[in-house]
Amino acid sequence: MAADLFDGLESAGPARQQLAPGAVLLRGFARSQQAELIAVIEAIAAQAPFRRMMTPGGHQMSVAMTSCGSCGWVTDRTGYRYDALDPESGQPWPAIPPLFRDLAEQAASEAGFADFAPDACLINRYEPGAKMSLHQDRDERDIGAPIVSVSLGLPATFLFGGLKRTDKTQRYRLVHGDVVVWGGPARLAFHGIAPLADGEHALLGRRRINLTFRRAR
Ligand code: SIN
Ligand code: FE2
Repeated sequence: MAADLFDGLESAGPARQQLAPGAVLLRGFARSQQAELIAVIEAIAAQAPFRRMMTPGGHQMSVAMTSCGSCGWVTDRTGYRYDALDPESGQPWPAIPPLFRDLAEQAASEAGFADFAPDACLINRYEPGAKMSLHQDRDERDIGAPIVSVSLGLPATFLFGGLKRTDKTQRYRLVHGDVVVWGGPARLAFHGIAPLADGEHALLGRRRINLTFRRAR
């Protein structure tokens, strides 16, 4: 298919790229499971819909989010936290499906982190213009475990810096099927997503979806 050929060329480059000690980009790692992943994301969103949450500072996030796992990440005027219940429904979050769990574990292992057992998966949905400012993932109790991040849909520019907010950031293009893993000395690296450029993806339309797996509690 022409679209496949195009995507293949777009992600040409080394299959594996080290971003920093403890951080690796596995190009196309999730690609062969694209259809199943998207179907599962739709099923989760039917139970726990995407929503644009409020930051503690009172700004509505441009990224719409939901979660699955024994806890999900939430933000509101009182702060950021992991919560066992979806505040919209008062119900537990959907469980992490085996497909997700296996993918996260395999990617972590490929990156050198054995036995990764995530208990939370944050699902981010970006539309053109949406972004995620530079931040650290540090609401998790277990920072001995890595973060595994799966990109689907429209390409994005991933910013990856150091342990200080002011450290220089490198920019990487993440396309459909790419997986980034960061842990060990990179676990608390600052990272973010530049405003999403408009485009049309063959499977996801004008959207990018990102899954991040964490060991939160
Ligand atoms: C995140 O930092 O939680 C999301 C990163 C991404 O969307 O790739
Ligand atoms: Fe993050």
